[in-house]
Amino acid sequence: MCGIFGCILKDGTAAPLIHASLKRLEYRGYDSVGIATINNGEIYVKKDQGKIDDVHRILNLDDLPGNIGIGHTRWATHGAPLKVNAHPHTDCTGQIAVVHNGIIENYSELKLELENSGHKFVSKTDTEVIAHLIEETATKDPSLSFTDAVLTAIKGLDGSYAIAVISTREPDKIICARNESPLVLGVGENGVYCASDTPAFLPITNKAIFVNDGELVILSPTGYEIRKVCDSSSVAREPKIIDWTPEMAVKQGYPYFMIKEIHEQPLTLRNTLRLQEHYLDLISTFLDRANEVFLVACGTSYHACLAASYMFSKLAFLPTYPVYASEFVEQHGKSVNIDSTILAVSQSGETADTLAAVTCAQQRAATILGLTNVIGSTLTRVSRVYIGQQSGPEIGVAATKTFTSQLSVLAQLALRLSKKRGKISQDEMDYLEEKLEHLPDVVDTIVKTQEEKVKQIAKKYKDAKIFFFLGRGISTATAYEGRLKLMEIAYVPSIAFPAGESKHGPISLIEQGFPVVFICPKDGAHRTLISNIMEMKARGASILAIVEEDDEEVKKLADDYVEVPKGIPEVLSPIPFAVPLQLLAYYMALERGHNPDTPRNLAKSVTVK
Ligand code: F6R
Repeated sequence: MCGIFGCILKDGTAAPLIHASLKRLEYRGYDSVGIATINNGEIYVKKDQGKIDDVHRILNLDDLPGNIGIGHTRWATHGAPLKVNAHPHTDCTGQIAVVHNGIIENYSELKLELENSGHKFVSKTDTEVIAHLIEETATKDPSLSFTDAVLTAIKGLDGSYAIAVISTREPDKIICARNESPLVLGVGENGVYCASDTPAFLPITNKAIFVNDGELVILSPTGYEIRKVCDSSSVAREPKIIDWTPEMAVKQGYPYFMIKEIHEQPLTLRNTLRLQEHYLDLISTFLDRANEVFLVACGTSYHACLAASYMFSKLAFLPTYPVYASEFVEQHGKSVNIDSTILAVSQSGETADTLAAVTCAQQRAATILGLTNVIGSTLTRVSRVYIGQQSGPEIGVAATKTFTSQLSVLAQLALRLSKKRGKISQDEMDYLEEKLEHLPDVVDTIVKTQEEKVKQIAKKYKDAKIFFFLGRGISTATAYEGRLKLMEIAYVPSIAFPAGESKHGPISLIEQGFPVVFICPKDGAHRTLISNIMEMKARGASILAIVEEDDEEVKKLADDYVEVPKGIPEVLSPIPFAVPLQLLAYYMALERGHNPDTPRNLAKSVTVK
């Protein structure tokens, strides 16, 4: 995730301090770095693709002049990780420089308008439009102060942003603003600071002011002034003392990255609703034309593919084949051909098994499509078209936020395809789109209302020797994912099956008190699933049900239950239903004394076959 930092110092030059602060934001993950300062009416910029130390070795980031500056670590979303796309971005005149974290949804429209007005763009980023938009606003109305030009310009932005802007027109200021991306101010003895996150300035000052959505801040040598973007009115807010250690600050006060990332899902899901339409359209067009479609992935990403096969079938009437990447060459290596399409799903974009499957398919002239979280990864380079899911870096080894984001993107693809194929009515489409938009709030509610309950359930089952996960239909994928999470971080041997299969063998394991988790959305399979619950109960199993809040029937049967809000459409159900299972795995790991961020024997990106 991009990191921004800015400072105005009373004493000393800004660049070395910006450099040091960006180093403290490295944990956010990044691929490029850049700094801009102002001195004697001129803006100076140094930036490049690569790690801070490497870029510094070549460019010497510290020798930029001036006591005011902004800096950025970029995590590519729009445009490859190249020097030209690194921040800060400037306007046509080089008198405005901007750093940005977030996604500007309407950047293509704005870019077109600005290009028609004569602006020249050099990068592929959404951020560059901000610099040109401020320039355009200031040129159109020269009576506006620079601050007011920024305030007016950002009213035209849709999407998420935390920005910091400097200009030679008001060279003693940094203007920052926030909408749905984090921004915090620091106030110290020697200056004022703005950053994506407190660790950036924590060694300098522990006095922080958190900026809210819809606010703009003017930093100057005399301090800070907060205004509301909607009406320019002033907001009074005093600094808070941050008593986190630097390690706690990096995790924003959470004890582990995994729980931080579970809590981030409302935000990451919102970001998946800001994808570039163009790429969704292109991929759904390729899927529509394909003779056969393979959904290829490993681990958690495979579970997203399995769920997607139900989405594509139910919404777009498109049969697809979810395949474990490690099996693809053996299973389909001889038959895959020019008429085959592979949709490879990989959070890292570097998983060796997934890339091997892609290479095999590519050699046989199949079309390769990609879904990944890492722009610039190998998968993005070998795909004909790819989508970046925009979840931000995931640091916990176990995939959580990236799984729900993959599901959201795949659901959007299925919806598009359905529309393209005329398989869905406008009413149904509107209904599902509205439900999809509402999912971030649903997940927020689950985390807020159910976490404590899951914690208690984990205490109850902490000594269980084995767990069973069952679901029907699309919930089979959710059951598999719940099992994988619990196994990999809490080291509890677990099994998962489609619930209908349980009576064809696995049920023989059941004895008194055997914990069985049922994934119970109120979908077409609900009634049959209740029969499966009865079968298990009759043999003494302890039933832990993940249910919709109004599902009194299952609640009565269950020994324990966790609730999700009611009215979730079947094809979207894996997103909210996966969340209690993530929490269960997390709290079981804690109860059993394991560090959930770094499970033994596992790596975040598995680059060996
Ligand atoms: C499980 C997990 C792994 C990955 C798998 C694929 O929590 O993280 O199972 O899902 O290694 O990784 P990507 O998606 O990077 O290809």
